[in-house]
Amino acid sequence: MLVELSVAPNPLILDANPGGGRPEKIPSETQINVSVQPNTDEERYDIDIIDIRDGQQSFDLAPAIRSGLQHRNEHGHRTLPSLLLWNERGLKLFEEITYTPEYYLTNTEIALLEAHSREIARQIEPGTILLELGSGNLRKIRILLQALEAQGRRVGYYALDLDRRELERTLGQLRTDLDGRGFFRHVRCHGLHGTYDDGQVWIARPENARRPRCVLLSLGSTLGSFAPAEAAARLLPPSSSRIILGLDGCTDAGRVFAAYNDRAGTNRAFILNALDGANAHLGYEAFLASDWTVRGEWDAGAKRHVQYLVPLRDAQVTFLRARQHQHHQSVTVKANEKLELTSSYKFDDADRERLWTESGLRATKQFLSKDGSYEERELLLER
Ligand SMILES: C[S@@+](CC[C@H](N)C(=O)[O-])C[C@H]1O[C@@H](n2cnc3c(N)ncnc32)[C@H](O)[C@@H]1O
Repeated sequence: MLVELSVAPNPLILDANPGGGRPEKIPSETQINVSVQPNTDEERYDIDIIDIRDGQQSFDLAPAIRSGLQHRNEHGHRTLPSLLLWNERGLKLFEEITYTPEYYLTNTEIALLEAHSREIARQIEPGTILLELGSGNLRKIRILLQALEAQGRRVGYYALDLDRRELERTLGQLRTDLDGRGFFRHVRCHGLHGTYDDGQVWIARPENARRPRCVLLSLGSTLGSFAPAEAAARLLPPSSSRIILGLDGCTDAGRVFAAYNDRAGTNRAFILNALDGANAHLGYEAFLASDWTVRGEWDAGAKRHVQYLVPLRDAQVTFLRARQHQHHQSVTVKANEKLELTSSYKFDDADRERLWTESGLRATKQFLSKDGSYEERELLLER
């Protein structure tokens, strides 16, 4: 379903940094140009990837790994940061997941976008910045960008994600294989290398805030990786006028479980890859992949599917001193203890209504899947 929402009479205060912790400073930018040879003899086109990371610190997950193993969360579990999933290999594995027959989310959303992208595109004014938070493999946004291109709308599309090489690869594909023509004439595509928080800071920069309109895109039920209270805070972009949001509301335990635990084992490989990510961030092999397995569970009470990493035998995770690589401290994770890695929350009708109320937004347009569980929603933020 796609819904248009506008700000309710008493909008909440916008918080550009809902997780807190990091100062709101303008990050230094590095621009990397990647040359892509189009299929035609038309102009050579450069894809620019802008590094908007906050002083490169946002990607050092070593402190979060350590802290997650030392404390328990509100569900009583020790944790590993879900950001460990999204390295280059993880992004490729996730792309494979979107093609598995069990992963209904992608096909459902593609069907909605194919049916409604022309209508959505008509509402997007020339000069608009389209900022996609967690752009992934760009399969879905391509549908909307093609509709914008067909309508001759000059807009700037910014794909924001965590891995620069994947941004290069996916933007390169987007540019070169469209209808065999090789490139967009009206839509300008760019990459932003950084986190959601970095993106919020970037969009608030004066040169971007001056642009006539901004549309934030959050597709693939990406918002569902946040618990409802945090999801509401994430719906409060500082200078965005509209949000287009894809959200999954399926609470059919069997269907959800199958999507995140496919028979071919792609989800399993995706989750185990987080251990490689953890070793890469720590700089040594703290987690021995062969000692661990994956357990997916549907938590009906919280309406979330959870992926856990579970040691097959007692696993000792050692933390070394950063510089000297000396033994510093170790933590034991007992055999069968579930380390929580990532959640996929599902938002039913009531949850969605609560989300709009708490974030001060009002739905203006919505498109629902045939079974009513998946929706594309357009939220208008007019200030
Ligand atoms: C569930 S995938 C969705 C991808 C794509 N939007 C889709 O619909 O298929 C989530 C995406 O968000 C990115 N991501 C996750 N956490 C992020 C963060 N904190 N900052 C930036 N990107 C993030 C991941 O790398 C991944 O590409």
